[in-house]
Order: sequence, then structure tokens, then C-alpha cells
Amino acid sequence: MDEFVKIAFGPIAPPKGGTLVVFVGADLKAPPRAGALLGEAAARIEAGAKSAKFQGKYLTCLDLLAPSGVDAARLLVVGVAPGKDGKPVDFPTLGGFVFGKLGAAKTIEVAFEAPQGEWDGAEAADFALGLRLRAYRFDKYKTVKKNGDEVDDSAPSVTIGLADFAAARAAAPARMAVAEGVELARTLVNEPPNVLYPEAFAERAAGLEKLDVEVEILDEKAMTKLGMGALLGVGQGSKRDSRLVVMRWRGVKGKKAKPIAFVGKGVCFDSGGISIKPGAGMEDMKGDMAGAACVVGLMHALAARKAKVDAVGVIGLVENMPGGGAIRPGDILKSMSGRSIEIINTDAEGRLVLADALWYAQDKFKPRFIVDLATLTGAIMVALGQENAGLFSNDDELAARLSVAGAATGETVWRMPLGAAYDKLIDSKFADVKNTGGRNAGAITAAQFLKRFVNDTPWAHLDVAGTAMNSPASDVNQSWGSGWGVRLLDRLVAEYYER
Ligand code: BES
Ligand code: MN
Ligand code: ZN
Repeated sequence: MDEFVKIAFGPIAPPKGGTLVVFVGADLKAPPRAGALLGEAAARIEAGAKSAKFQGKYLTCLDLLAPSGVDAARLLVVGVAPGKDGKPVDFPTLGGFVFGKLGAAKTIEVAFEAPQGEWDGAEAADFALGLRLRAYRFDKYKTVKKNGDEVDDSAPSVTIGLADFAAARAAAPARMAVAEGVELARTLVNEPPNVLYPEAFAERAAGLEKLDVEVEILDEKAMTKLGMGALLGVGQGSKRDSRLVVMRWRGVKGKKAKPIAFVGKGVCFDSGGISIKPGAGMEDMKGDMAGAACVVGLMHALAARKAKVDAVGVIGLVENMPGGGAIRPGDILKSMSGRSIEIINTDAEGRLVLADALWYAQDKFKPRFIVDLATLTGAIMVALGQENAGLFSNDDELAARLSVAGAATGETVWRMPLGAAYDKLIDSKFADVKNTGGRNAGAITAAQFLKRFVNDTPWAHLDVAGTAMNSPASDVNQSWGSGWGVRLLDRLVAEYYER
């Protein structure tokens, strides 16, 4: 993985000609240690603030070039005073915000000191996580630089200075493990579909073996033997073979270890199949494997930080293409569960992949719970936009835990209903179930379909169509593949399932 920013921790130290970052509240007064570094330049803050109308509000900043009285090329004054909405400081967001303001700076000294009180090592590590997340870029396919100018895209060096830098150094590796997991997920989502087809995706997942994750790749022959007619049906119109990848991180061992399981939709490209999609925006369907990417990123994070948990990841990898061999509307497929599925629309393919992946996960591992992630429906975007993922669950405790972890990480979820009346909409005239339930409640009927394949296992489904791909830029992400879900699920595990 390319390195986009170099991060170190130490005591608060002079910037030595680089960029100095300090934090202020509404009174615009630099905190004591940072203030001592500033000397006369401290007076420049108030003067500059007046003309720039800077009031020290959270996520605003004042940029002072060539400040006199301090050996810095630049002084970046960052506000952390609560704004009207009273939002408390979120350190990954703050780190991302600061990185976004650095511009061409290459040597940066952050005086990580609160205007009132102290910020601790864990908060510094969270700030570093935000820096890392914002610094990520996906430009490996660009060979021509903008304007023909020589652009120096070497990684900037950021030193985060604080009193308890030892605590920050101790907390940072676990955060960096999560950052790596998010970056991995983003890259998988951003890669073009001619590069990242099912076999290639499976190979990247196999890269987790480096971290002592057990990785098993099932090819079409193995899946045929298991009876995975639903997943295989989706892939049968494509020249690319399908794969199922099973990953296991055994952070706790022994007979009592009962794994938790994560299942991901990995449609490497979704053309819609015979029910082909309109052309406009179809290129976005390279991201239809974002659920699977999140599962791989999460497994990376758990293994890299040596989480004390037994976790399984199962991803179904296919390409949904039209062609002479493709499934048709009207076809009836037999899933691994034994249940038959009538195809109404070949563009409702994700649920077919998940039907077999979910059944396999619960049948083989008898997990404590399953969380699946899938860019499953356009309907969830109609309902929730890109602000929340849709959460569907047969288990109130699991749902509540996901909501808490979502609020804590900013990867928020909104619970949607399930129920018998919705379930009825996918009863089929000719088979056990049909793969679409009509226009109304499209995200819900998709979830009802999945529910039929989890066999009473405590389960939650996250419809991430709005949050994981084609994401707008934010403080912690430049755009497109967001790696959404890695931080959420890492937090879920850390809060509730590690011992
Ligand atoms: N991958 C799509 C859902 C999607 C749409 C994800 C837009 C991200 C952005 C999924 O396979 C799909 O095509 N769903 C259909 C279901 C319909 C045919 C019942 C949809 O949402 O239109
Ligand atoms: Mn589709
Ligand atoms: Zn799809």
C-alpha cells in the first residue's frame, strides 16, 4: 500500500520552518504549550481573525502565512469551539479536516493541545486515524499530471506533539490497523471491473494470509458440489468464473470459540444481466462489490490489530452479465438451502448471491450472529440518501449495538422494518420465493428475501448502496469508495465481542 502521509508522535516541539498547527476555542487564545512556541506570533491570531471573521468555531480555520516571531513558514489556527449545533469534537473528523487544509505543506508540527484541559493519547491516535483516512488517494491509473506542472506528491510528514505522546504511540497501531482496512476496502471498490473480476478479487483477499488469516477459495466446481445454484446462476452469463472466499481470523482459539460472521455481496460488475440497466451511470456498478470489500477490509483490521475474537468473513464474488448463457426472467434456480427461487428480474442479483453465502455461513459455522453488507437496492437510496445505511435485523440487541457503534464512528445506520406483510410480497406462483417484490418497499422486500436464508441465526443486513460507493468527499474521505462499514464493524467487535 502506498503511503500518503507519514505520522509520528512526540512532545510539543517547534515547527523548525515547517507548518505549525494549533487549536483554539472561541477566545482565540492558544493553549499554554502551543502559546509558548508562538511567542509574538500569538498576537497575530487575533489580528488575523478579525479580518478573516474567524471565530474559532469547530471545523473552521485561519491560515497565517510567514508569521513573524515563530520559526514557521505557516501557522494554521484550527477552531474547536462548539458551533450552534453543539457537536463535540470528533477526533478522526478533526484530523481529516486538518489534513484537508495542509495543501502543499510537507513538514507539519501539530501542537495537539486542547484550548481547555488536555487531549489524551487515545484522542491523538484518533486524530492520526483521520489524517490517514483523508490522505488516501486512488490515482494509480493516472499517468498524466495536471497542467503539465511538476507536482510533488510525496507524502507529507506530520508530527503530532502532546504531553502524553507515549500513550499516543501505544494507541496508534490499532488505529492504523483500522486505517489500513478502510484503505484496502476503498481500493477494492475503486478498482475498475476489468482489473477486479471475481478471481482477481479472491486473490487480493488471499493477501490476508500475510496477517495469519486463514483463506479458503471455493471455485465453481466446489460451489456446484455444495449446491449453490443461486450464486452460480448470477455468474453464468459472464466469461469470468465465480468464487466464494471464506476468511477466518482466530484471535481466540479453543473448542469454545464460536465465531461471529460477516457476509458480503461481491458483484464485481452489475450490468443487470438480461434485465439490463440503462447506460447512464452504469460504470458505477463496478462498486457493486463494496459489501465484500468491507468484509475483507474488516478482516484485515481485526487481524492487523490482533483482535481477541474468532471472526469469519464470507464473500460471494460474481459478475452479472447478459449473454447466451445468462439466466432469464422466468428461470427457477435451486439454492444451497434447497429452496427454489423464481427469477423475475435478473438485476435483483445481489440477493441471489447472498442467499447461498448466508446459508453457507450459518450452516458451516453456526455463528453467534451474522452481519451482511450489500449494495443491494436503489430503493434504500431513495429512502435514506447517502447519510445512513439501511439496517434490517431479526435481533433487537444486535440492531441496537450496531446503532451505537454507528453513532460512535460516524458510519450511521437507520433501522428499517421487517414483517410478514412484506414477506408475502415475495411469495412466488411457481417456486418457493421470487427475487423481486415489486416497486413498493424495494429495500424491505430485498431484506425479507435474505431473511429466508439465515435460518433463525441472529442477523443484521446493512444495505450500503448509498454509503459505500460513489460517496461524496468528506473530512475523512476524498470521494467514491468510502470503505464504509470497516470502522463501524471494527467498533462493534471491539465494544461487544472481544474478550
Ligand atoms: N446493485 C444494484 C443496486 C444499486 C443501485 C446499488 C444503485 C448502488 C447504486 C442492485 O443489484 C439492483 O440492481 N437492484 C435493483 C433491484 C430491482 C431490480 C428489484 C434496483 O435497486 O433497482
Ligand atoms: Mn442489480
Ligand atoms: Zn447489484
